[in-house]
Amino acid sequence: EKGGFDSFMDKEIHDQPQAVADTLLGRTDAAGALVLDDLRIDESILRAVNKIIVVACGTAAYSGHVAKYAIEHWCRIPVEVELAHEFRYRDPIVDERTLVVAVTQSGETMDTLMAVRHAREQGAKVISIVNTHGSTIPRESDAVLYTHAGPEIAVASTKAFLAQITAAYVLGLYLAQLRGNKFPDEIVTLLDELRAMPRKIQTVIERGEYVRATARSMEKSDKVLFLGRHVGFPVALEGALKLKELAYIHAEGFAAGELKHGPIALIDEGQPVFVVVPSPRGRDSLHSKIISNIQEIRARGARTLVIAEDGDDEVRKYADEIFWIPQAPTLLQPLLAVVPLQIFAMALASAKGLDVDQPRNLAKSVTVE
Ligand code: F6R
Repeated sequence: EKGGFDSFMDKEIHDQPQAVADTLLGRTDAAGALVLDDLRIDESILRAVNKIIVVACGTAAYSGHVAKYAIEHWCRIPVEVELAHEFRYRDPIVDERTLVVAVTQSGETMDTLMAVRHAREQGAKVISIVNTHGSTIPRESDAVLYTHAGPEIAVASTKAFLAQITAAYVLGLYLAQLRGNKFPDEIVTLLDELRAMPRKIQTVIERGEYVRATARSMEKSDKVLFLGRHVGFPVALEGALKLKELAYIHAEGFAAGELKHGPIALIDEGQPVFVVVPSPRGRDSLHSKIISNIQEIRARGARTLVIAEDGDDEVRKYADEIFWIPQAPTLLQPLLAVVPLQIFAMALASAKGLDVDQPRNLAKSVTVE
C-alpha cells in the first residue's frame, strides 16, 4: 500500500502533483469562470463579507497564512489567520459579515471544531476546507470546500498541505470573481497558472535526490533555522515544523526581516540556515531584500541552504547549497518551495533511523482540546 516507497510520507510527497490537480478539478464552467458547487452560502452574503478569519492548527494554519497573502491581494478583504485554540478563548470580534474559514485535513481537530462552533454562535458564516469526507467539521460548517488529496496516512502532513493551499487559492479567486475585484480574463490567467503547478511540483520531486544527500550529510545537526519573506515566511515555518516533528531537531522559522530584531544572535560559525528566495521577477524589492539577509547571515558564519528559482543567477553567489525550483508567480511559489523542505526533514529523520510515518508523541488526528 506504500506503492513501493519506504514510507507513507515518501509516497504522499510523490502524490502531491495529483493532489493539487485533483483539488483544481471541476471548478470551472464552459466559459472558464469559477463555480463552487459545494458552497451553499448565498452570494449576497459572500459579497457583503468585510473580514475573513482563517482558523486552523499546525500545518493547516500555515496554509491559512499563505491564503492571507493571496486573498488580501486578490480580493482586498482583510484576512486574519489565527490558531484555532487561541481564537476561541480571546473573545474575538466576529459578526454576520465575518467569514470564518476553517482549514483541516482530518476534519476532526477538536481545537478547530470549537473555533467553528464559537464563530457560528456569533453569527459568522463558516466555510471549511477539509480533506476527509464524512468528518465532523464539514457537518458543522455552513459550506465545505473539499481538498481532494486522498487519504493521508503519515502523521506529518504533506499532500494535504499543498491541497489546502490550492483550495484557498480557489476560494480567493472565487471571491474576487464574485465581488468584481478581477476581470474574467484575469481569473482565467490565474487559474491557468495554477493548473501549471502540478507539473512543476513533479519537477521539484524529481530533483529530490540532491536534497536527500544534503540531509544525510547533516544527520548531526542540532539546530536548523529557516527564513522567508512574504509567502516564503509560512513556508519557512512549515519547514521548521517538519524538521521538529520528524527529526526531533530544534528548528525555528523566522520572517527574514525579523533577523536584525533578535534572531541573528543565534547565528554562529557553521549554523545551517534555509532561506526561501522569492522570484527575482516578482514585484517590489522582495528578492533584493532577501539577498541582503543572506549576506548578513553569511557574514556571521551561517551555512546557507537556499531554495531559489531556476535562472536566479544572483543568488548563486551567496548560497552554499541551492535547491532549484521552477519559475512561478510569487503567490503560488509555496506549492514548490515547501517540497524540498519536506524531503529534507524526511531524509534527515530516516538517516537518524527514525520512523517518519509515526513520530513520537504525535497522533494523526487530535480530537482532544
Ligand atoms: C503537522 C501536522 C499537524 C496538523 C494539525 C492540524 O505535520 O500534521 O500540525 O496539521 O494537527 O490537523 P488537521 O489538519 O487534521 O486539523
